[in-house]
Amino acid sequence: MMVATNKPAILGGEKAVTLDQTEANRWPIISNVDEQAVLEVLQSGELSINPVIEKLEDDFKKLTGRKFALTHNNGTSAILAGLHALGISPLDEVIVPSATWWSSVMPILHCGGIPVFAELENECLGLDPEDVERKITAKTKAIVVVHLFGMPSKIDEIKAVADKHGLKILEDASHSHGAMYKGKPIGSFGDVSIFSMQGNKLVPSGEGGVLLCDSQELYESAIRLGHYERLLGLNSENRYFAATGFGFKFRMAPMSAALARTQLQHLEERNKKRNKNCIYLSKKLAKLGIDPFLATDDITRVYFEFLIRYNEKETGLPINDLATALQAEGALVSAPRYPLLHQQPVFTHGVWSKIARLPATNDNPLHVYDPADLPLTTMGNGSLIKLPTFPSASTDLLDQYVEAFSKVLAHADEIPRSD
Ligand SMILES: Cc1ncc(COP(=O)(O)O)c(C=O)c1O
Repeated sequence: MMVATNKPAILGGEKAVTLDQTEANRWPIISNVDEQAVLEVLQSGELSINPVIEKLEDDFKKLTGRKFALTHNNGTSAILAGLHALGISPLDEVIVPSATWWSSVMPILHCGGIPVFAELENECLGLDPEDVERKITAKTKAIVVVHLFGMPSKIDEIKAVADKHGLKILEDASHSHGAMYKGKPIGSFGDVSIFSMQGNKLVPSGEGGVLLCDSQELYESAIRLGHYERLLGLNSENRYFAATGFGFKFRMAPMSAALARTQLQHLEERNKKRNKNCIYLSKKLAKLGIDPFLATDDITRVYFEFLIRYNEKETGLPINDLATALQAEGALVSAPRYPLLHQQPVFTHGVWSKIARLPATNDNPLHVYDPADLPLTTMGNGSLIKLPTFPSASTDLLDQYVEAFSKVLAHADEIPRSD
C-alpha cells in the first residue's frame, strides 16, 4: 500500500490529479480514416440504402460467429425487434435486471409484456441465476441478460435456468463489444443478441444498433417489423408484406454504418488499451480495500464503463463524501451509477400498464412494483463509484488517481461529512 502523507485537497492540501485528462479520456477517437469512410458514403449519393450496411452486418457476424445480423437505427429498436421476434405477447413476463439503461426493459411494454425484476449477483453485476429461477412463473417467456459495464454475466448458470424452464434469452451486449466468456464471444449467447453503437459505446457510430441470431425465422421476424425494404429479398411468404412491413422503420443510416466499420477495426486494440489501464488501476485500488470487479481467468471483460465497489462500512466515510473528496483531488469520479428501474415512477405509479395497454381485470390483477424490492441490487448500486475508462491515459495519470484514493482513504476520519 502507498504511504499517503499528503493532506487531501478537500482539507487544504495539493490536488493529486494534475495531468491533462481531456486527451486521456477522449472518446470516440476519430481519425481521418473515419472521416474518409463517412465522406465516401456522402459522396456516393446513396445516403439511405447503401452496401456499407451489409458489410457492417458481415463484420458483426464475424465478431460473434452468428449466422444473421440485422443493423438497426439504434440499440433500443434492435431490442424491440428482438422481443418481437421472440414472440413476447400481452401478459408474457420477461425477467430483467433493474440496474441497466431503460432500453433493456422498456421495449417489453410495447409488446404488452410485463418486466419482472430480479436481483443482481455481486461478482459481475449480472442477473442472479438463483433469483431468476425464483421469479419464474407460468407466464414467464424470456430473460433479458445485460453484461453491465462490459462484465459478462454468469451466462452458463442463466442459460441452464432458461433451458430447464424453456425460456428464451435476449442478450443485451450494448456494453460489451469484444468481451469473451469461456472462449466464446459475447453476443453469441442469446437466442437473440443485440449491440448498441450509440456514440459513447465501444463501437461508436453516432446512432446504431445490430440484432444477431442464428435462426432464419427470428431474423425474418425482425425484418418484417422494421425493414420493409428487405422483404422482397426473402424467399418466404414474408415477401407478401413488402408494401407495408409491420409498421416500423428501423434501418441504420449508412454514414453511421461507415463510421461503425472503421471503429470496429480498432475495437481489439482500443479495448486492450482500456483494459491495460483499468486493470493497472484496479490492482492498485484493490490494495486499498476497493473491489474493482476484476474478471476471472476464463473471462475477458471489457471496460465500456469502469465501476468499482466501495464499502463505506470499512472506512466509516460515506460514499458521497468520498466522491466529493476525490473530485476535490481532480479525479473524475461520480456515485452512484444507474437510477434503478423498479423504483422509477413509470413502474411505481402504474404508468407501465398504460404503455403496455394492459388493463387490470379481476382475473388479471396487475403486477405491483415496490421500490423496496431488490434490496441486494439497491445496496449494491449504492456502493458503486464510476471512474473514467482511460482510453488513452498514461501510467502517470493512473498513478495520480491511486494517490488521490490513497490520500483520501488515509484521512477518512477527517473528510467533511455532508450530513
Ligand atoms: C444496456 C443498454 N442497452 C441498450 C441500450 C440502447 O442503445 P441505444 O442508445 O443505441 O438505443 C443502451 C444504451 O444506450 C444500453 O446502455
